[in-house]
This record gives sequence, structure tokens and C-alpha cells, in this order.
Amino acid sequence: MSEFHSKIKTVEWIKTGELEGVSRMVDQTLIPYEYKKIDIKTCGQMYNAIKTMIVRGAPAIGISGAHGAALCAIELLKKNEQNFTAELKKGIEYLNSSRPTAVNLSWALNEQLKIVNLGGTKEEITRALIENAIKLENEDIEINKKIGDYGAQIIPKGAAILTHCNAGALATVGYGTALGVVRSAFANDNTIKVFADETRPRQQGARITTFELVEDGIPVTLITDGMCSYFMKKGMIDVVVVGADRIAANGDSANKIGTYTVAIAAKYHNIPFYIAAPKSTIDMSIKTGDEIPIELRDEKEVTMINGKRICAEGVNVINPSFDVTPNELIAGIITECGIFKPQELEKLFMKS
Ligand code: MRU
Repeated sequence: MSEFHSKIKTVEWIKTGELEGVSRMVDQTLIPYEYKKIDIKTCGQMYNAIKTMIVRGAPAIGISGAHGAALCAIELLKKNEQNFTAELKKGIEYLNSSRPTAVNLSWALNEQLKIVNLGGTKEEITRALIENAIKLENEDIEINKKIGDYGAQIIPKGAAILTHCNAGALATVGYGTALGVVRSAFANDNTIKVFADETRPRQQGARITTFELVEDGIPVTLITDGMCSYFMKKGMIDVVVVGADRIAANGDSANKIGTYTVAIAAKYHNIPFYIAAPKSTIDMSIKTGDEIPIELRDEKEVTMINGKRICAEGVNVINPSFDVTPNELIAGIITECGIFKPQELEKLFMKS
């Protein structure tokens, strides 16, 4: 087993000098054809990297945002900007507008904003932002390993696990959330296997999940999105584990478009459906999934495959990138603090 997940850091802060650095990240638009890292050097470049999905997946986007805030401070420091704090806050707001659904982005940027609000000299603020970005980056891997270990407890021996989209090492700094559960389960029981939904339109399941699992030597079967109920009916799926981009206080969970369909099919076939996500994906400020902003993306993602149009000119297209699975379809939410029923998430935020 190559243990791909333990070798990579999807997003990593690279120090290039005193109060200088770059965010080095895997360019996920190239996978599986090419595995290449690029250096993001400015706040503007980070905005584009998130928007164009060079980096994607809720936790990876969050850490990239934290890096982006540090890059913004470095740029302002170099320019000797007089309105340093005000401009830095504008930069943070700009980064926050790059993608709307994954709450991890605003969570991480808010952690950076707290540092800015503590005040200090430009140098002190910049140093603190870099240190905090590195801290959040390292914590992400630890959190995912805990999610993996809790999640492994609900995976039956020899189970076939269905997943949708990519909630793997490449959607986080490393190890993954839903694929973290798969990795921890596989370490205990190498007879488990995975079914990966293709995940139209951007095919994160086909391109990225199968890439990661094949690299790790974990058996994976690729299916197209419409096939899941066929395999459920045949008794070939034992459990579903997916990631999330934002979870409302009542447990309603937004994840890649198509997840809701999988959850409905799982309920019909009495197959447990789990969400694996860090606490930072839970947005207690919104009561239900109806309040989760859903990103609408370019219609070309639907009308074109590999640069070639696949449908008639003039057809209407709408391309929501996420859907919301209602809490009653979710057996449990696997976090770094344990597994919770969707209706009992407030327990996670109670002060002990
Ligand atoms: O549009 P993407 O590729 O950023 O969407 C990713 C997903 O929907 C993931 O399942 C989710 O972010 C969880 S990642 C641990």
C-alpha cells in the first residue's frame, strides 16, 4: 500500500523568509492526468485558486482561506500600507466571497479576523496570521484522523461503503473526512471496499476519489451517479459515508449535488447514511438547511465534457453545485468529538 494520504499535504504553508511565505497546493483541476503542486503568492491568486477549484473540498478551502489572509498581510506589509488593518479586513472579505456554500471558509477567515482584531504592529499581526494559518493546517490532519477512528467503529466487517464526491485527503489538508473513515476502517479490516459515485458534473468521485483510493490500495469500484439504487437493491452497499460543506443546527447537511438522492435511496433500502465532517463545518447560526447558500456554477460544467459540447445548442441549463440532505435521512454525524445524531448537535457546542 503506497499510503498516498500520509505523503501528501494538499495545502501547505512554505516559509520563504522572515515574514514571507507561499501557500503550496495540489492543482486538483489536473488530477488524475497530472499530480502537480503550485505556489500561491498573493491574496488575488488565492481567491482565483478557490473560485476555479484548483483547491476544493470544504476543509481544504478553509485552510487555503487562512493562508490567503496571511498572504494578504504579507503583501500589505511589503507595500508599507498605511491603512493596514482596514485593507487586511477587505482582503479577508474578498477571500470569503470566493465560494459560498462551504462554511469552513468563513470559519477559518473568522479565526484569522480574531487575530487581526487583537491588534499590534503590522509585523506582529502578519507573524500571528502566518502562525495561526500553520496551526490550523496541522490541526486539520489531526481532526481528520479522529473522525476516521470514530467513524471506523460504525463500519461492519467486510462492508461495502458508498461515497459521493471527494471527501478525501485532497479535500482536506490530509487523510480526509469520509475517506478518513474508509482509511481507518481499512487499517483494521482490509476486506472492506468502496463504491465511488462519479459525481457529475465535475466528476470529483471519478477523478479524485478513485485516484486516492487506488494509490492507497483500497479496493474501489466506480459507478455513475444514477446507479446507486441499483446496487443498493442488489444488497451490494452496506453503509453510505459522505462529507459535508455546511451543516445547519438541526443537522440538515449540504454536500455535493446528488448526495440528497443517495440519502433517499439509502433510506428506502434501510442502509445507514452517515456524514463525516469536522466541527468547523457545523454552522450553529442557521437553524435549518433552507438557509444554506447554494452555489450556482457555470452551465458549461453541464453542457461540456473535455471541451466538447454534449447537448443541443439552445437548451436551458441550471447547475446548482450542492444539495441539502434533511436530518431525518441521516443516521449520524461523525465528528472529531464523536458520533452525534443530527438532532443533538448542540451538545458539541456546550461548555463543559
Ligand atoms: O465542489 P467541491 O469539490 O468543493 O465539493 C466538495 C464536496 O462536496 C465534499 O464532499 C465536501 O466539501 C466535504 S470535503 C471533506
